[in-house]
Amino acid sequence: MSRRKKLYEGKAKVIYEGPEPGTLIAHFKDDATAFNNEKHDVLEGKGVLNNRISEYLMQQIGDIGIPTHFIKRLNMREQLIREVEIIPLEIVCRNIATGSICKRLGIKDGEKLSRPIVEYFYKDDELGDPLVAEEHIAAFNWAGPQEVEDMVSMTLRVNDFLSGLFAAVNIRLVDFKLEFGRHYEGELVRTILADEISPDSCRLWDIGSGRKLDKDRFRQNMGGVTDAYAEVARRLGVLKDQPRLKIISNGDEE
Ligand code: TMP
Ligand code: ASP
Repeated sequence: MSRRKKLYEGKAKVIYEGPEPGTLIAHFKDDATAFNNEKHDVLEGKGVLNNRISEYLMQQIGDIGIPTHFIKRLNMREQLIREVEIIPLEIVCRNIATGSICKRLGIKDGEKLSRPIVEYFYKDDELGDPLVAEEHIAAFNWAGPQEVEDMVSMTLRVNDFLSGLFAAVNIRLVDFKLEFGRHYEGELVRTILADEISPDSCRLWDIGSGRKLDKDRFRQNMGGVTDAYAEVARRLGVLKDQPRLKIISNGDEE
């Protein structure tokens, strides 16, 4: 066993010290939580799938010129990433109304939005990640105005790009959550995309059937969670070189 230092353990990932200064290792766990840890389960194979899916999406996003923390995948569950100072905001982008916006504003579930909506949530588990306005972000100095502008413009570019990428494999990108970090490059600080992009952090609906292929299956006790994640991975072509990768489903597909 390696003796590397564990720096942080979150709900779905563990962060270890990386091999070189300025790098970290993200380890994707099989744990799934929802409603701020009220609901918890271990879904065998989820970490492997999210590692692969996030690797692929971060690489594709990097290729269109959006800076990300991703360096390379190390093994089935781990990737090497750049160390950043995480900005304590979750940037959510919605194309179709579902989830919290429906509860909050009484919008009909499944309604197509006339334009993408970007929302900010303050990252604080104890407070349950509340929705905040730009005024709060500025007043409490969670991020500077340039950082907010950069995060919003990158989020909208990611939305356009991933909407097309997923549509090509018959999946609707309903909404997603991004996190950003400050990357210190000598004298410069750059805002780069961090965390992960996976069916844990996106809502993905099959275009033909409307079948949910994301964490809502877990949140809503629908079963077949890892099977759905494996379906996303298969459609994106990221399981091609792993034909024998055994994804053990949790056995409760509908
Ligand atoms: P919401 O409708 O619950 O606000 O979720 C919006 C999007 O953000 C959805 O794609 C799921 C994702 N999300 C996370 O990644 N982490 C979270 O803690 C929450 C609440 C949502
Ligand atoms: N990620 C949050 C939690 O673990 C909430 C969610 O994704 O629904 O509680």
